Amino acid sequence: MDLYIDTANLDEIKKAHDMGVLDGVTTNPSLIAKEGIDYTKRLAEICEVVQGPVSAEVIAVDYDGMISEGRDRAKIAENIVVKLPSTVAGVKACKTLSDEGIRTNLTLCFQPLQALMVAKAGAFLVSPFIGRLDDIGQDGMDLIQQIRQVYDNYGYPTKILAASIRHSQHLLACALVGADVATVPYSVIEGMMKHPLTDSGVEKFVSDYKKAFG
Ligand code: E4P
Repeated sequence: MDLYIDTANLDEIKKAHDMGVLDGVTTNPSLIAKEGIDYTKRLAEICEVVQGPVSAEVIAVDYDGMISEGRDRAKIAENIVVKLPSTVAGVKACKTLSDEGIRTNLTLCFQPLQALMVAKAGAFLVSPFIGRLDDIGQDGMDLIQQIRQVYDNYGYPTKILAASIRHSQHLLACALVGADVATVPYSVIEGMMKHPLTDSGVEKFVSDYKKAFG
């Protein structure tokens, strides 16, 4: 499973990249707003650090606006993937940009038929949001499972990018059902290598050794 970081914070991206396990980055307008920096400038900085796919979302919600912004974003770097909403205008823009050879990530996917449509339109990635479904009392993991089945039934190459992941249990469930990619905040990446028995075990090994040999 590929691992992306879900942030526009450059320090977090660099820290995750330094671990040697980072395959890509996802950003969105809310994450950029949190950083208070020009979106284009930050995307260029991210693409200097990470060679894998970097998702750059459009702000426009109409077809013409998405196409124009999408083409501009794609010029920032070769690894930019244009992020579009899973709407009627978004699927149309996905088809146009995909036909031009621009990779797309169709975001805000909350039901499997959206995923079917964007796969037909040539999306490189689809982003089902697990946490936000859990928030309204639905099981976000069911969505990942259903999309996996639909894509496998027909051999669609669109990759399932599990998004809106809040904790390591989400991440484990994604790996078990076969999501292609998971995008997670930095805290979740760090948490993947944490277990109290690992910490106490390391402490004991070191102290036993020091007791015996000084
Ligand atoms: C993914 O591309 C989105 O940026 C992200 O995962 C949204 O997560 P949230 O629901 O925690 O805002």
